Amino acid sequence: MASRSLVCLIAFVLLALATTASSQLCPDFYDKSCPVALSTIKWVVEAAVNKEPRMAASLLRLHFHDCFVNGCDGSILLDPTSTIDSEKNAVPNLNSVRGFKVVDNIKSEVDKACGSSVVSCADILAIAARDSVVLQGGPTWEVQLGRRDSTTASRTTANTAIPSPLSDLPALIDNFKNQGLDETDLVALSGGHTIGYARCLAFRNRIYNDTNIDSEFADSLKCECPSSGGDSNLAPLDPTTESFDMEYFRNLVEKKGLLHSDQALFNGGSTDALVEKYSSDAIAFSNAFAKSMVKMGNIKPLTGNEGEIRLNCRKVN
Ligand code: HEM
Ligand SMILES: *[C@@H]1O[C@H](CO)[C@@H](O)[C@H](O)[C@H]1NC(C)=O
Repeated sequence: MASRSLVCLIAFVLLALATTASSQLCPDFYDKSCPVALSTIKWVVEAAVNKEPRMAASLLRLHFHDCFVNGCDGSILLDPTSTIDSEKNAVPNLNSVRGFKVVDNIKSEVDKACGSSVVSCADILAIAARDSVVLQGGPTWEVQLGRRDSTTASRTTANTAIPSPLSDLPALIDNFKNQGLDETDLVALSGGHTIGYARCLAFRNRIYNDTNIDSEFADSLKCECPSSGGDSNLAPLDPTTESFDMEYFRNLVEKKGLLHSDQALFNGGSTDALVEKYSSDAIAFSNAFAKSMVKMGNIKPLTGNEGEIRLNCRKVN
């Protein structure tokens, strides 16, 4: 009996050590195994964004939608199969998330440059998101690395975990809290909407029915977004959609948030003060965004020998 509990104790201690040691991401993870990994990813992202500026926004959003569904594990990249209920088919993602071909291209170039498949798809998303923000004039940060790729995906979790653009502030706060993110993270990360576009479908109810919206702003969108039809017509999330700046927050203060969930951050609630701060202090926003991106990137990564390094980001090995 005594020897059995000793074995258990040793097993427990080893497990505890293994978990602490393996749950740690670090910025120099690929320095030995593939020193050219980060520079390779950077140039492929640069080429893609030069070709189509919106791709920066699309890549940033991919990382967000990956992290909010069972952690930053590349699960969003898996295509549907008989055993994979692809997150690509979840309501917030379907006909909406994009950039998968660019990710394929990054993976193939980085594997070629490294000489083998050492860089995970989950890390590719984290690095591509940072590089995209930098290319649009936003802040930089050191990306924590060492995530591994999932062997599963969950459409149903994607449906519940990714926040809806129809949310009010309490729902947004609660949604981020479920990921270990606080109100500062919510406001700072929503600043990601300083780049990119939304479909009419996502803001129709806001421009026709919301009362906390500048009426000229609402009217200016009605041509592109009729009360019925034109669901996939696009409008910029802020007026300077290719530039990572404070305009998103300045517009919230003017009741010109495009999504109901954007304006919810400045609607008389507890986040008003932060929105006002970020609307007038670029450095405060930059610092907060970078800090919260690292925090978001740390959501439940697979590390050590959990998961795998996918050969093809769309498929389990
Ligand atoms: C706070 C809750 C959030 C909600 C409710 C939300 C919702 C949305 C919606 C509805 C769209 C438009 C999708 C479409 O119409 O196809 C969108 C676009 C976008 N979101 Fe969010 N989002 C949130 C937070 C974030 C965060 C945290 C980030 C990144 C840090 C982010 C980055 C983006 C980007 C860059 C786009 C534009 C993508 C493109 O043009 O391809 N969003 N978001
Ligand atoms: C405005 O709200 C009403 C009542 O909830 C709804 O029936 C209608 O479809 C909404 N209009 C738009 C354009 O979303």
